[in-house]
Amino acid sequence: MSAEEVYQQLKTKLHDVVPDVELRIKSVLADEINRLKVERNAVILGHNYMEPALFHSIPDYTGDSLELSRIAAKTDKDIIVFCGVKFMAETAKILNPTKTVLIPSLKAGCSLAASITAEDVRQLRKQFPGVPVVTYVNTYADVKAESDICCTSGNAKAVVESLGSQTVIFLPDEYLARNVAKETGKHIIFPSKKPAPADETELDYQMIGWHGRCEVHEKFTLQDIKAVREQFPDVMILTHPECSPEVVAASDYSGSTTAMIKYVERTNAPRYLLLTECSMGDNIMAAHPEKEMLRLCSVRCPHMNQITLEDTRDALLKTQYVVEVPEDIRRRAYQAVERMIQIGAAGKKD
Ligand code: 13P
Ligand code: SF4
Repeated sequence: MSAEEVYQQLKTKLHDVVPDVELRIKSVLADEINRLKVERNAVILGHNYMEPALFHSIPDYTGDSLELSRIAAKTDKDIIVFCGVKFMAETAKILNPTKTVLIPSLKAGCSLAASITAEDVRQLRKQFPGVPVVTYVNTYADVKAESDICCTSGNAKAVVESLGSQTVIFLPDEYLARNVAKETGKHIIFPSKKPAPADETELDYQMIGWHGRCEVHEKFTLQDIKAVREQFPDVMILTHPECSPEVVAASDYSGSTTAMIKYVERTNAPRYLLLTECSMGDNIMAAHPEKEMLRLCSVRCPHMNQITLEDTRDALLKTQYVVEVPEDIRRRAYQAVERMIQIGAAGKKD
């Protein structure tokens, strides 16, 4: 495909979203990346939050964290370029260690992943001996290595239930934990970092959480929902489970990024509002011009937005930035991620 053909394809999908002058520049970059991808025997994975021109031009696969982990585990390409954030690229390396995994920007972090350390998990294990640890995939490899099993937003409930354990430590997202506790009927506590008094470890806690937050989803409020519903009474509101339980409860549907996309695809509301990274609304609108998407774009993920076409081209040209996970950590983290993958997406609410 030539740059002109990429431009025509992008223009068809994005003429209402991205100015033409930008589409011209981006289609030249996308064409270069697509050629480099073949030369370097690479696969490009694009998270659902990628900006529209990138999302609709260069990824071989797009999806949520769980779907992209599955693809990363199976690819036979030499290089995996992860257009997402660092913890996602690390998960690809954990699952497929003989491949070169590249992330286009070193600035693509995550407030949830930064909220907890491996030492924090070890301390919690001491505080609550014998209680299984579930960690959200939005954590770094050394934290995953201290866990029994991982989960994503798409399978968190199924993972917790699979353990068959009365009590579970669920880290690090406070709101996801509260939402899962609500769904599974568990009582949740948030311990302090101090060791618990001996008698407290005997108490019948059912879920032990942590105060990590997604800096994007924590910002959506009941007031936002009320204001939008007042202006557009027929709007269907979708939330990611990293939003607070109050916001999730006031929405019409909650699910992983892909679950939200599928929900919009199979329903027929007059208009939709996604309370999540704003690019997703643009990406859905581009794929389904018949859908009307309202946009609340004042809240953006500064980490996902670090990934650009320019940096992705440089990643393939210069083989940068290589994601490495020390082998002892990788092996332990692999157990937790693989155990999750075996459970699958059975918990998806779509
Ligand atoms: P998903 O697993 O639903 O794609 O979410 C990832 C994420 O970072 C949400 O903020
Ligand atoms: Fe992390 Fe939130 Fe950004 Fe997702 S949206 S990558 S959870 S900061």
